[in-house]
Amino acid sequence: MKIIEMPPFAPVLMESTRAIGYNLEAAVADIVDNSIAASADKISISFSPYDAVPYVSILDNGIGMSEIEIDNAMRYGSQSSLKVRAETDLGRFGLGLKTASLSQCRCLTVISKQQDCLEGRRWDLDEVYRNGSWSLIKLETADINKIAQYTTQLKDLDHGTLVIWEKLDRMLEGTTSTDKTMNKQMDYVRNHLSLVFHRYLSGETGIKKVAISINKQPLIPKDPFLIGKSTNFQADEKFIIENHPVHVSCYMLPHISKLTRQEKDELGGSEGLTKNQGFYIYRNKRLLVWGTWFRFHRKDELSKLARIRVDIPNALDHLWTLDIRKSSAIPPDVIKKNLERIVERISEGSKRAWTFRGKREISDKGNHLWNKTHIRDGVVYNLNRDHIFLNTLCESLDSAQKSLLENYLKLVEGNLPLNQLYVDLNNEEQVNVKKEKDAEAEALEFAKIILNNIKDNPLRSQQIQIMIQTDPFCNYKRIVEFLTEELNKNG
Ligand SMILES: Nc1ncnc2c1ncn2[C@@H]1O[C@H](COP(=O)(O)OP(=O)(O)OP(=O)(O)O)[C@@H](O)[C@H]1O
Ligand SMILES: [Mg+2]
Repeated sequence: MKIIEMPPFAPVLMESTRAIGYNLEAAVADIVDNSIAASADKISISFSPYDAVPYVSILDNGIGMSEIEIDNAMRYGSQSSLKVRAETDLGRFGLGLKTASLSQCRCLTVISKQQDCLEGRRWDLDEVYRNGSWSLIKLETADINKIAQYTTQLKDLDHGTLVIWEKLDRMLEGTTSTDKTMNKQMDYVRNHLSLVFHRYLSGETGIKKVAISINKQPLIPKDPFLIGKSTNFQADEKFIIENHPVHVSCYMLPHISKLTRQEKDELGGSEGLTKNQGFYIYRNKRLLVWGTWFRFHRKDELSKLARIRVDIPNALDHLWTLDIRKSSAIPPDVIKKNLERIVERISEGSKRAWTFRGKREISDKGNHLWNKTHIRDGVVYNLNRDHIFLNTLCESLDSAQKSLLENYLKLVEGNLPLNQLYVDLNNEEQVNVKKEKDAEAEALEFAKIILNNIKDNPLRSQQIQIMIQTDPFCNYKRIVEFLTEELNKNG
């Protein structure tokens, strides 16, 4: 028996790894990962469809690379995926720089500056094909100085790294309009990075703030939890797995009617809310996977406001079966059961936010327009026969009229357009929208009618007290004040 060396054939392997499945957004994010891991706090992404050679470049002001480091960085498999990484390292496989870049282009140039050292390397797939070997191009200082992106972007920095993608065959595949295609695709990149790196962009406590721009336009962090507006349905939790902490925070977005148009758009409207409910898995504060319940739960209307943030450290990568693109991760059994338990509770919470408006109407203390009763097969809504307005009205009717009215009320209750309402609400139609001011004026008008009807009633004070706790009067501060004044006048 003997061992024979069987190295891969460079052009074939490089060509094959282009098909790992990166899209442009994920590929750029992988390069940004490297910049953040290199302690950069400013990352400038540029692209130009108008240059003779269209390009995408990513510049950072991180620590840069020495001669040995850049050589190693350009190697496929520059570090073992089994190696323990620094806590802040966003890398794992030693491949991203090459595989992500060459999934989008045929020519990858990396120029790095560190103190006095300026280094440039290039993988050009056409050159690799020509030579049939792993022929990495080393750029001399004179070559680097001829590169426009270097002279305009990196040259003036003390340290940093510039990644340039040219021969953008994948990105521009089949396009008849380079500028339209590039602009559109870079819009996707903008959205993706704003979400994936939102905690770095906003400089969350404990994270070094990073400014990222695309063609000089700064990225605005996109917070999927609307922190500040959403509620924490339960206390944050921490599980210790193999001596490493996994943090879980549960957020419930506000009811859709409380979102501004811009927030609704950012969250993707009703469809986006449903699609993006679920877990948000962050690895070292960088979003990896989102909008999934990992089969613990079905994506449904009732849980569409629930989003659960899970923070995992890179030391647990082996448990999460991370993929090379860092676009998928599967929770290990040890934490599956904890997540399952949380999912059950969070769906309950979401149900509360959705049905809150209904509940308020039937809740305990006040005197409401509608009563909700649970029966064996579901729920029944009835108009509250003890509502003060109805009582006042009935007092002025004879028994035949009362019976007619009762029949009419039953008709109304039995014919609520529930199915249509359900459809409208799901389509985010504002149902029965009335200007708040009009609704208030109407309620005030009703209050005055009742006051007039009970003006000689010996129980007037008690009745006004009831009115103060009654829908719709109790919903308006001004009407409550008006009724309180009436009560005081009464002595
Ligand atoms: N912008 C950068 N600044 C400094 N060093 C860098 C930069 N980009 C890459 N490197 C170095 O090159 C190495 C290889 O990067 P590459 O993205 O290929 O793999 P990785 O980040 O280690 O793992 P992964 O495949 O998970 O991304 C990095 O580990 C880092 O040491
Ligand atoms: Mg990397």
